[in-house]
Amino acid sequence: MDMTIFTVIENVPVADKTFRIVLSAGDPGFSNEAEFVNIALDGFYLRRPISVCESAPGRITLYYKTVGAGTEAMSRLVPGQTLDVMTGLGRGFDSSSSKKSALLVGGGLGVAPLLPLCKALWGEGKKVTVIMGFNKEDEIILADSFRSFGAQVYISTADGSVGTKGFVTDVINTLDLSRFDFFYTCGPLVMMKAVCTTLPLPGQASLEERMGCGAGYCYGCSINTAQGPRRVCKDGPVFNKEDIIW
Ligand SMILES: Cc1cc2nc3c(=O)[nH]c(=O)nc-3n(C[C@H](O)[C@H](O)[C@H](O)COP(=O)(O)OP(=O)(O)OC[C@H]3O[C@@H](n4cnc5c(N)ncnc54)[C@H](O)[C@@H]3O)c2cc1C
Ligand code: FES
Repeated sequence: MDMTIFTVIENVPVADKTFRIVLSAGDPGFSNEAEFVNIALDGFYLRRPISVCESAPGRITLYYKTVGAGTEAMSRLVPGQTLDVMTGLGRGFDSSSSKKSALLVGGGLGVAPLLPLCKALWGEGKKVTVIMGFNKEDEIILADSFRSFGAQVYISTADGSVGTKGFVTDVINTLDLSRFDFFYTCGPLVMMKAVCTTLPLPGQASLEERMGCGAGYCYGCSINTAQGPRRVCKDGPVFNKEDIIW
């Protein structure tokens, strides 16, 4: 875990209530290997955890949805402003758990941390299929980015404006699941529960909990798992399907 002062390079709307923010560490030697960052915002006591979607030497790219006062404040940041960011947080997805063909299932902003996983799986020569679920067309993000890493992409929308009308599980029901050896999921809890309890495959899910310190000290993000109490920020946010108690 490190504290890094980043400079905002870009902070632009990319979909309904959804922004992409590109942050520069100033140091070209900076590299991000971790799952999420925790961002301090002026006027807010607690930091806001956001998944790292793209990493390049010296910079990171995040996607976030404005859901409350903190993310609204983030959306008003302009290029040149600085941000105090806690980096190096969380245990991410394990790409080595899939041997040949992985199924990635993301809902809403939950697709963001699946992109670096897709890139890793692609780099390891594995087949990747992605199911992305959104409410409507103007919420869709990153579909072409997944395709650029060789993934076959299926989209579901609740209103039927793009792809399959309904939920990610409606797409899952149309697929030959014997093609896959492992799944990875991130998104709303109700979606991940449906995915984990219906898919007859081993898998991992990235959980979200309200966080205090974000770095393993306060135990504010503790959950019960089959292995006993675990901290989402330090022991997760990614957990094996069989360890999650829904
Ligand atoms: C590991 C992790 C990764 C995340 N990655 C992303 C991402 O890539 N993009 C994105 O848009 N959102 C992500 N979230 C959710 C994001 O942290 C919340 O949407 C954000 O903190 C809301 O802050 P707010 O002030 O706008 O909302 P408010 O509702 O006003 O927040 C009040 C408090 O609750 C916390 N909180 C509210 N919603 C959540 C939530 N879903 N999860 C955890 N804490 C919450 C806030 O951090 C704050 O402390 C992630 C959450 C976690 C735990
Ligand atoms: S938020 Fe403090 S231990 Fe997880």
